[in-house]
Amino acid sequence: MAKRKVVVTRQLIDEAQELLDGRSDLEIVQWQSEKPCERSWLIDNAKGASGILLMLTDKCDEELVSTAGDQLKVIASFSVGTDHVERDALKKRNIRLGYTPKCLTDAVADLTIMLILMAQRRGGEAMGKVLAGEWPQMPWHPLLMTGPQISKSTVGFLGFGRIGQATLKRLLPFGISRVIYLTSKPGQPVKDDHYGLTKQTEIPIEPAKNWEQLASESDILIVGCALTPSTKHLVNADFFARMKKLAVIINVARGPIIDTNALVDALDKEQIFGAGLDVIENEPNIQADHPILKQPRCVLVPHIGSATIATREQMATESVKNLLAGLSGEAMVNEVEL
Ligand code: DGY
Repeated sequence: MAKRKVVVTRQLIDEAQELLDGRSDLEIVQWQSEKPCERSWLIDNAKGASGILLMLTDKCDEELVSTAGDQLKVIASFSVGTDHVERDALKKRNIRLGYTPKCLTDAVADLTIMLILMAQRRGGEAMGKVLAGEWPQMPWHPLLMTGPQISKSTVGFLGFGRIGQATLKRLLPFGISRVIYLTSKPGQPVKDDHYGLTKQTEIPIEPAKNWEQLASESDILIVGCALTPSTKHLVNADFFARMKKLAVIINVARGPIIDTNALVDALDKEQIFGAGLDVIENEPNIQADHPILKQPRCVLVPHIGSATIATREQMATESVKNLLAGLSGEAMVNEVEL
């Protein structure tokens, strides 16, 4: 019997690679460089593929799936976000979509806490001064590098899924005083309460009526929703105009949810206190002269939310399992309902 072809757009780590290599019934075509897979390579090699394992940096669209052909059964995305996948192109062909929503929750929630602390306590700015040799000119004084603190804050979540709720679990011991959240159903209680927090927690945890309330009442605003046409630039100049002067905004979701020009402007005008970003529009093409990098109160890291060794190993293994399950028509570890 002819081997079925699978295309994999990265080299994988240990267990995941072994799982794949152990399948002598498959022809495995795998991108070999450390750099992101080239689109032309993907399109050329997709022809005749039954399954494709790809990254959030690989667009999975009509062109890719139609080039692959009718035998394509499964796309396994090495990510929780699936905004790089055109769902309709898969749905109309009954192609299944696997993803890795659960195994990265802790890693991203940890990074969210880091960004909150960095933004409030001016971590990037403070270290920058030390590295620039400026400490001798700025001896300790009572107001040196002061900023807001987590305790007694109202924390606002734009999107309140697994990552938001895991972040809240970590924030509770800091002594926050209230939580509001906005989902695609404003004013309604969140559908999945993954840790039972909305029922058991002593502080109020309530759905916001609209984005205006979320913007104006949050001291710490955490962006954790999916990128869709309705969330693109949801955080814009109007949003920042309503925010508190001492508020910080954190983005661990997708860059385009925040209008970067509006963020730069809000920081310039001191409409907000600071920002902590794991993602930004047009990443990774952020050159050293980008205006956001001139903002001392903005901490920007290069999309490392899930970058712990254990998490990336698990994402790789789950992606391969999803790919194989999709080929054999079995249940995936996690599948997107298209
Ligand atoms: C994802 O998997 O979508 C995350 O952005 C990775 O950190």
